[in-house]
This record gives sequence, C-alpha cells and structure tokens, in this order.
Amino acid sequence: MWPRRVEALLVVAILFGCASRGVQAQSTNAERGAQRFMEYCAGCHGADGMGGDKAPALVSPSNSTHLSDSELFRIVHDGTKGGMPPFAQIGDANIRAVVEFLTRLRNNAPPTNASAEAAVPGDVDTGRTLYFGKAQCSACHLMQGKGGFIARNLTSYGRTRSAEEILHAITNPDTPLVPSSQVATVTTRTGQKLTGPLRNEDSFTLALQTEDGRYHLLSRSDVTDIHYSGHSLMPRDYRTRLSPKELNDIVSFLIIASRNPPPDKAEGR
Ligand code: HEC
Ligand code: HEC
Repeated sequence: MWPRRVEALLVVAILFGCASRGVQAQSTNAERGAQRFMEYCAGCHGADGMGGDKAPALVSPSNSTHLSDSELFRIVHDGTKGGMPPFAQIGDANIRAVVEFLTRLRNNAPPTNASAEAAVPGDVDTGRTLYFGKAQCSACHLMQGKGGFIARNLTSYGRTRSAEEILHAITNPDTPLVPSSQVATVTTRTGQKLTGPLRNEDSFTLALQTEDGRYHLLSRSDVTDIHYSGHSLMPRDYRTRLSPKELNDIVSFLIIASRNPPPDKAEGR
C-alpha cells in the first residue's frame, strides 16, 4: 500500500509543479501581450480594445470576436487593405502574445457580446433575400461582388457602423448628401439632356455618370443648363416601402455579411 501512495503523491507533486510553472509562464506571456498591445495597438484600437476614430473595436460583437487565433495572427502579421498596418517586424513571439491577450480581452468582454449573431436586430436570411430582391438594393450597390456599381460598395459598410446608424442611412438618404453623388440634369447646346450623378465639376468641365454607368465629359461651353436635384440616386421611400421588420432584416444582413466578406473580392466602386 505505502509504495502506491508515495507514488501517487509524487505524481500529484509533479503535476502540481508543472501546473504552477505553466501558470507562471502563461502570466508572463499575458503581461508581455498586454505590454505589446499598449505599445503597438492601443493608439488606434483603444487601450480597452473598444476602438476609436482610427480603427474598429476588437472586442465588440461586430468585430474580431469571430476570428480564430490563426486568423488574428495573420491579420496582425500581414495587415489588411483596409488600413491595418502589418506587424511582421515585431516577431512571431510578440504577435502570438498580443493575440493571446486579445483572446483574453474578448473572453472578459460583457456577456451580451458572447453571441455575435444574436446581437443583430433582425433576420439575416430574410434581409439577404430583400436586399437582392424586393428592395433592389443590389441594383445600385455592390455587395460581396454582386450588384450594381453606380453607388458605393456596401460589402464592409456594416463592419464599423451600428444598426441604428445603418437604419438611419437607409431611411434618411442624403443626410449628408455626398457632393459627387448628387444627381443633376445637364442640357447641352444640341438640346441633349443627360441625367445622373455629377461626379465632378470645375471651371471648364463637367463629369456626369448616366445610369448605364457611362461617364460623359462635357465642356462647360457646350452646356446650356444644369439642374441640381439636391439628392442622390438613393430612393427616399424605404421607410414606407418596407416594414420596420424588413428594414431591420436588411440592416442585420449588412452587419453580418460585412463580417465575412469573400477574401479576394476587391473593394471599390
Ligand atoms: C494605424 C492604426 C492601427 C494600428 C496601430 C493597429 N491597427 Fe488593427 N486595424 C486598424 C484598422 C484601420 C483596421 C480595419 C482594417 C480593415 O477593415 O481592413 C484594423 C483591423 C484589425 C483587426 C481586424 C478586426 C476585424 O474584425 O476584422 C485586428 C484583429 C487588429 N486590427 C488587431 C490589431 C493589433 C493586435 C494591433 C497591434 C499589434 C493593431 N491592430 C494595430 C488600424 C490599426
Ligand atoms: C437607385 C440606386 C439605389 C438603390 C436602389 C439603393 N441605393 Fe443606397 N445609395 C445610393 C446612392 C447613389 C447613395 C449615395 C452615396 C453613394 O453614391 O454611394 C446611397 C447611399 C446609401 C447608403 C449610405 C452610404 C454612405 O456613404 O453612408 C446606404 C447604407 C445605402 N445606400 C444602403 C442601401 C440599401 C440597404 C438599399 C436597399 C434597401 C439601397 N441602398 C438602395 C443608391 C441606391
């Protein structure tokens, strides 16, 4: 009997020893992660990882909570086209420490952040169907590589905006009106009328894009009249055309889709 007990005690002692050494190693690594985070990341993402003017939140439900450690590693190592600088130069060990620290930050985030999908106000699948169907958003806006290009690409639009902000943008278009989106009707000397977003205007020329996507470069001396509509092409009646539920569904689709954009689809108009 004795020998077995001694053996068991030994095993426990060894395990305990390893475990406590493990804990120690982990906490120094976590400290290092926290230090590196403050040094390299907090300036843009905020000391608490909640984001700021320069970069999105890293711990809120709308952001990197869905990313695996290896994806996080890759983003930090290589940076992104959207403005995240690469940090390969700080070395893999520092990057791993920062990623570990981020995982801790995420795990300590308030419980409402636990389920990203639950944080959106409506039904994502219905939203997708509406976006490409009845609401015809895709006639003008590119989304994940599909749709029109006369208006801005919405693929990553929902990533940095709250549901309220997106709903506001859909139901109160033109607040503010982007100057290069304003629709104008231009009459030329020959009597031709062209209508569409007036992309550019200077002392000598006008650049107008018609709904077929074509650009028309016009010399001011050839233009007899310009009528400014005060609006963009974005329909102003979604508040009445769609129910509050349908609007929430579309907003939810924009938020969720922006978290998983196809990796190699280039952004742009
Ligand atoms: C100069 C400002 C800046 C610094 C410094 C910076 N980031 Fe970023 N980061 C950004 C921007 C901007 C984005 C959004 C990029 C995009 O959408 O493609 C971003 C995105 C990310 C993302 C992806 C978030 C998501 O949900 O897709 C992660 C993760 C991230 N940063 C981690 C870090 C870490 C870790 C550090 C420090 C090692 C760091 N960042 C330093 C600006 C910065
Ligand atoms: C007839 C074309 C058209 C349709 C249809 C349309 N939009 Fe737009 N939308 C625009 C234009 C033009 C703008 C102004 C900014 C620009 O040029 O992209 C705009 C602006 C927006 C913005 C604000 C963009 C910003 O820069 O802040 C959002 C969000 C948006 N649309 C979402 C939608 C959604 C969702 C739908 C469907 C429910 C929709 N749009 C349908 C043309 C359209």
